[in-house]
Amino acid sequence: MPVYLDHNATSPMHPEVVDAMLPFLQNPTGNPSSLHSYGRMARSAIESARAEVAVLLGCSSQAVIFTSGGTEANNLLLKGYVDSSIGRPIVSTEIEHPSILEPLRQLQAEGQAVVLLKPDHDGRIDLQSASPVLASANAQLLSIIYANNETGVIQPVAELAAMVDRDSCLVHSDATQAVGKIPLDMAQLDIDSLSFSAHKLRGPQGVGALIVNRKPRNILISGGHQENNLRGGTENVAGIVGLGKAARLARLEMEQKKHHLTELRDLFEIRLAAIPGSVVFGQQAPRLPNTTYFSLPYYHGETLLMELDRAGFALSSGSACQSAVTAPSHVLKAMDVDDNLALNAVRVSFGMNNSLQEVEMLATKLQQLVNKLPTVIRQAAV
Ligand SMILES: Cc1ncc(COP(=O)(O)O)c(C=O)c1O
Repeated sequence: MPVYLDHNATSPMHPEVVDAMLPFLQNPTGNPSSLHSYGRMARSAIESARAEVAVLLGCSSQAVIFTSGGTEANNLLLKGYVDSSIGRPIVSTEIEHPSILEPLRQLQAEGQAVVLLKPDHDGRIDLQSASPVLASANAQLLSIIYANNETGVIQPVAELAAMVDRDSCLVHSDATQAVGKIPLDMAQLDIDSLSFSAHKLRGPQGVGALIVNRKPRNILISGGHQENNLRGGTENVAGIVGLGKAARLARLEMEQKKHHLTELRDLFEIRLAAIPGSVVFGQQAPRLPNTTYFSLPYYHGETLLMELDRAGFALSSGSACQSAVTAPSHVLKAMDVDDNLALNAVRVSFGMNNSLQEVEMLATKLQQLVNKLPTVIRQAAV
């Protein structure tokens, strides 16, 4: 099997998550809305998972709305809470995931004003540049990605939240890449809303949550009273149980995870630095411990990915959702990275199952690929 190095796209489930889910897949699982014992058992499993999420994120259980993942959670937030009739803008960033940017475009098409903050060259929103924009915008919603899926760069969410009027502006963070990878406490951050997805923290695909304490103006999925009337439809019981278990394990294993992932990433970046002309995007900014987004000047990103795939390494060229598209990443464009360099970008995102030996193997393969190139190409590119 190829070495899996694409954990920001999706992470393999923790074996204990699989064990926790299995009884709900193998045995009769009641509908959590049913009053009989099967239903009550399913309801109780959902409520335990909700409590685990609340402990991990420092929020109340009542604020947790289970969804089908990060995309739905972001859509629910944007389409459920924004009031386009009041003439006040949404402030967000140019480096959001498409599950924020696309609904923003839809809202914009309906007349909603949207202001997007630009990051600096390291992919971080600069507080000094953001301050006058936020002071004058009179925003109704501030939505900031917590850690970018491509660069791994962590944004100054709490500092930006402190720049808006908290009585009239809701502060949301798409924390899909951050939850479970770094400590994150909503009460400490003092934000109103947060979205995330189980499959990024070793839970199952197709389940996630929006955490928010206020009632929305609209809901996305109606037709059932589930999730406190905020998201209709019979709950994905096994998925939610898996999410709860993944949240618990992420909390208990956070320190160990940070240590291991940082070790892998740092070793990789040391080896990468030995390849002339290699560039790591966002390297000077605070980043997730598991992500390196880099370019080799000699290789188009997709060519490099295919070479690495043939050699037994699974990486990604930026966000997984965009890997069929060959345009430079919108994140690197926002960072004013030259298009040619941006087209060479490849992302490695490590997980707990990766080893230092695999890092060495990857680095050796990259060096071998570069060594095979004609000297003129190498010299011209550096
Ligand atoms: C930052 C970010 N937000 C949202 C999503 C969407 O999450 P999901 O796949 O659960 O819909 C992703 C997935 O890659 C992401 O990286």
